[in-house]
Amino acid sequence: MTVKTEEKTLEIILDEMVNVVENSKDEIFHISEEARSEYEQLSRELEETKTKVIDYIEDGDQLEQNVSYSRKRLSEVSKHFDRYGEDEIREVYESTHALQTQLAVMRQEEEILRQKRDELERRLLNLDQTIKRAEGLASKITVILTYLTDDFKQVNDMLEEAKEKQEFGLKIIEAQEEERKKISREIHDGPAQMLANILLRSELVDRIFREGSSDDALNEIKSVRKMVRTSLYEVRRIIYDLRPMALDDLGLIPTIKKYIATTAEYNNVKIEFTSIGKDERLNQKYEIALFRLAQESIQNAIKHADATVINVKLEIYKQYVTLVITDDGKGFDPSEKKDKSFGIIGMRERVEMFNGVMKLKSSPGNGTKIIMQVPYEAY
Ligand SMILES: Nc1ncnc2c1ncn2[C@@H]1O[C@H](COP(=O)(O)OP(=O)(O)OP(=O)(O)O)[C@@H](O)[C@H]1O
Ligand SMILES: [Mg+2]
Repeated sequence: MTVKTEEKTLEIILDEMVNVVENSKDEIFHISEEARSEYEQLSRELEETKTKVIDYIEDGDQLEQNVSYSRKRLSEVSKHFDRYGEDEIREVYESTHALQTQLAVMRQEEEILRQKRDELERRLLNLDQTIKRAEGLASKITVILTYLTDDFKQVNDMLEEAKEKQEFGLKIIEAQEEERKKISREIHDGPAQMLANILLRSELVDRIFREGSSDDALNEIKSVRKMVRTSLYEVRRIIYDLRPMALDDLGLIPTIKKYIATTAEYNNVKIEFTSIGKDERLNQKYEIALFRLAQESIQNAIKHADATVINVKLEIYKQYVTLVITDDGKGFDPSEKKDKSFGIIGMRERVEMFNGVMKLKSSPGNGTKIIMQVPYEAY
């Protein structure tokens, strides 16, 4: 529960971070768009100003020529006072003065335009730098976003996976504890109880025999013998569940055969066994795994299927081993997950540990078939 909440919190924080970064990216985009449109406007203004400066220079030059002509004429009329009338001299003088004033104004305006042009150029340079900086920032933010959305999410996924594994590990430990409890209860309720009973009964036999009824004593002994046999089966079953010793001594096929024989007899069910291929010892870890796989499948068919016939087929070839268990029982829906069931999950894990594949075919009313194949290099 806590693990899930932590994952959720992490996801919320991540989403918020992505949101903030995305907003910043939008803002930067906005800034750079504004800068770009201002840049265009200023560029236009600069072009206009430059044209105006040129016009002013040309007009100014023209005016300068006019001024110099007018001045020449003024010095001419000034030299020859006698030839020109007073009015004419004044007129030349005034027009020269007017032209000079006009030129001065024009030069000043030209200077102002030049200053404006320089200022515009400076601002354009600054804007260009702003645009470049914004673009650089935007691409960095894109990298951050990719990191947050892809890479970081991957880290989150990995974290989730690791936590799931951890949870699964804990479940396995719990299941082991549960198994130990079950075994101790089985020994306590089964063989231990029976041994206590046998002890009592044997004392009874003793007494009956001493009291003279040998027939009764014989009957009692028969019943004790039956109890001993059942206890023996129980003890053997428990040992088998823990670790079949025959597996180390005799190998896979004889052990499965023995297991099938006792299980079939005790549960009153028909279990058929066929083995194809090489009848030779496999690597120990394969023998244990295959035995456990067969054992769990058979136990499931007995516990859940209500089967009349269970079929076990083992094929050992040079490069792979196949185990197929079929029952004619009631079947089930494999997509339905059960909370406290680890049998099938464990089987799948075991098969995958050996790089094998497991297929389970079952549906209500149609029995169950489990096919497991693991690669095996015999030589
Ligand atoms: N051969 C089968 N026939 C019918 N139902 C089956 C068969 N095998 C499994 N099931 C169903 O699938 C469920 C899961 O089986 P699984 O072996 O994983 O767990 P389990 O037997 O319930 O418990 P565990 O094996 O952990 O002691 C069973 O509870 C049962 O309902
Ligand atoms: Mg099971």
